[in-house]
Amino acid sequence: IQDLLGEPVLAGRKVVITAGGTREPLDPVRFLGNRSSGRQGVALAQAARDAGAEVTLIATHLEVPVPHGVNVIHASSALELRDAVFEHAPGHDALIMNAAVADFRPASVENSKIKKRDEHSAPVIELVRNPDILAELVQARRSNEQLPGVIVGFAAETGDEQGTVLEYGQAKLARKGCEMLVVNEVGASLTFGQDTNTIQVLFADGRPSATASGSKIDVARVVIQELAAEINGHTT
Ligand code: CTP
Ligand code: CA
Repeated sequence: IQDLLGEPVLAGRKVVITAGGTREPLDPVRFLGNRSSGRQGVALAQAARDAGAEVTLIATHLEVPVPHGVNVIHASSALELRDAVFEHAPGHDALIMNAAVADFRPASVENSKIKKRDEHSAPVIELVRNPDILAELVQARRSNEQLPGVIVGFAAETGDEQGTVLEYGQAKLARKGCEMLVVNEVGASLTFGQDTNTIQVLFADGRPSATASGSKIDVARVVIQELAAEINGHTT
């Protein structure tokens, strides 16, 4: 991905990308998970690498291979992902939060495998809220200039009677306080585990949204192009 002069658009830049889906442990062998395959996040890492960036990929349970030429850090649960993001994000120009982070986790993790106690009863699993990693990063950045100047969220939305996918995306962008939000429409047969994707990129500074459709690598190239414009706008 090059600019009009043939320079890679992210040359000399450092980008950290989270990808995949978290797993919230219940006991030593069980977890609550989600359907994210990590394909879009891996495509973003490839596109950022091809645009000349030094890329750190924080991977949570990818179903696809890790691309060559990127640094990989592994995390499993939302709490582990939060630790990894706060450890690795300082010193980077941008953070792309593409991972599907569980909103809730089991309130307690059993040390041994949960057993059937009798013939008929079943346990009730109590959940607690996970921290919002993206919102915490935006908040922490106010007093830590080492944290990335450009933070990008991803939102999987479904439209309903109360609002459209775009309206929900705009409200979420304002709520999170990040610079960019990539919105995609999800449904039973859309996005998760599929090879193609349609997205809209929304900007906090109010400039018009960008749309992209195609393979996950096509979409990733558009997101990286917009990210480069945002980073360069921040530094000039
Ligand atoms: N995210 C995060 N930490 C969480 C949940 C989400 O950092 N605990 C990030 C995701 O990685 C993504 C963005 O926030 O970049 C939006 O995620 P989404 O699930 O769409 O937003 P939520 O605020 O969790 O809202 P909802 O109730 O619609 O799920
Ligand atoms: Ca969520």
